[in-house]
Amino acid sequence: LESKKDLDSKLQELCDLLKEKVDHYDWVGFYFKNGQKEELKLGPYAGAPTDHTIIPFGKGICGQVAVSNQNFVVPDVKAQDNYIACSITVKSEIVVPLFVNGENIGQIDIDSNTLDPFTEEDERFLEFVNGEVAKIL
Ligand code: SME
Repeated sequence: LESKKDLDSKLQELCDLLKEKVDHYDWVGFYFKNGQKEELKLGPYAGAPTDHTIIPFGKGICGQVAVSNQNFVVPDVKAQDNYIACSITVKSEIVVPLFVNGENIGQIDIDSNTLDPFTEEDERFLEFVNGEVAKIL
C-alpha cells in the first residue's frame, strides 16, 4: 500500500492536470467518505479553496452522489435546490462516484464556470479516470 503522502501528491497532480488541460474544468477535486462517519471529506483539489471541506451524506450534489452511487450532471446549478455553492462563478457541476471493489468510496467533483458544458464524453472520461485512481488506492 502506498503512503497517504504519495497518494495525495499523485491525486494533486491529477487535479492540476485536469483543471489545466480541460477548458471547461475550473475546479477539480476529490471527496472521500470519512471513515465510519456519514460524511465526505475533501481530499486533493485544484482551484479556489472551498469552505466545504466536510459534506454530510445527502447534502449538496456531492452528498447526494455519496448515497445514490450514480453520476450527477448539473447543467445549471441555479436549477438545483439541494446544491452547496462553493463559488459564485460556478455555473455547472459534474460528480462521478469512485468505486473500489464495487464500493462507492468517494468521488471526483468538477465545477465549471460555463453553463451546460458536460457531455456523456465527460462522464465516460471521468469514469475512466476514477477507474485508474481506484487501482492506486
Ligand atoms: N457544489 C458541491 C459542493 C462542493 S464544491 O463544488 C467544491 C455540492 O453541491 O455538493
